[in-house]
Amino acid sequence: MTAQIIDGKLIAQQVRDEVAAKVAQRVAAGKPKPGLATVLVGDRVDSATYVASKQKACAELGMESFHHHLPADATQEEVEGLVQRLNQDPKVNGILVQLPLPAHLNEERVLQAISIEKDVDGFSPLNIGRLAQKGREPLFVPCTPYGCIYLLEQAGVQIEGANAVVLGRSNIVGMPAALLLIGKNATVTVCHSRTRDLPAVIRQADILIAAIGKAEMVRGEWIKPGAAVIDVGINSKPDPSKKSGYRLVGDVNFDEAKEVAGYITPVPGGVGPMTIAMLMKNTLRAAEIQQGE
Ligand code: GUN
Repeated sequence: MTAQIIDGKLIAQQVRDEVAAKVAQRVAAGKPKPGLATVLVGDRVDSATYVASKQKACAELGMESFHHHLPADATQEEVEGLVQRLNQDPKVNGILVQLPLPAHLNEERVLQAISIEKDVDGFSPLNIGRLAQKGREPLFVPCTPYGCIYLLEQAGVQIEGANAVVLGRSNIVGMPAALLLIGKNATVTVCHSRTRDLPAVIRQADILIAAIGKAEMVRGEWIKPGAAVIDVGINSKPDPSKKSGYRLVGDVNFDEAKEVAGYITPVPGGVGPMTIAMLMKNTLRAAEIQQGE
């Protein structure tokens, strides 16, 4: 059996096209362009790259972006003060504070300072709290888990009643992904570094979301035949055949898993492009909410 490859690049482009069309309609109707403020604290190269991609996506979709770069030694008060000013700025519909923050900053307090109506990352305690409660809806769903579920739905994978295994319990991906799957009536198991007999647990999964950050950790023989495999990992692996000397691989051994799974996302070109597409969707939604639509 060879798995159906879920093309995240194509599906992300469709989401972006829909958002761009709606933005153009709003502008044609005399409404302001939706605006996203990005906040980067410090000089992590990976974070700077992610933030630059988010700003580029805003420009491509006809939205405004406002970038704020604070030094690595910025104080808690400076970061929270900036967030408060962005909360008050009517041109800013969404606020994205790139994580991780430098270790001396209290991430929870910074995220809590973001106005719920502008929390396009969905990381504020109020949004996550709502996601965790039955019958309640968050205003915004965190972008990467939202992208994972969107890919499953677009591929036609049935979530209701499925055994879903989430590998990883991070605040950004694993935990909100598990909550979303519960909300869609899957039976969910969350695994982590201390899970006993991981292969046996993963073998039960009709749906696997791998977000543990370990290159090619999940082997093909761990996968249940026909399962849907969503690989969130982005790890670099030495590869002397490449000019750069490395290539990107996921948390799943793709070549092995594609022979067993029913559906699988590649790395790159799977979940990666979805994160920004869903951020753009959330930013448009923020503008709609703030304009009372
Ligand atoms: N760091 C890694 N992923 C994300 C994300 O989706 N949002 C933010 N703000 N920071 C991140």
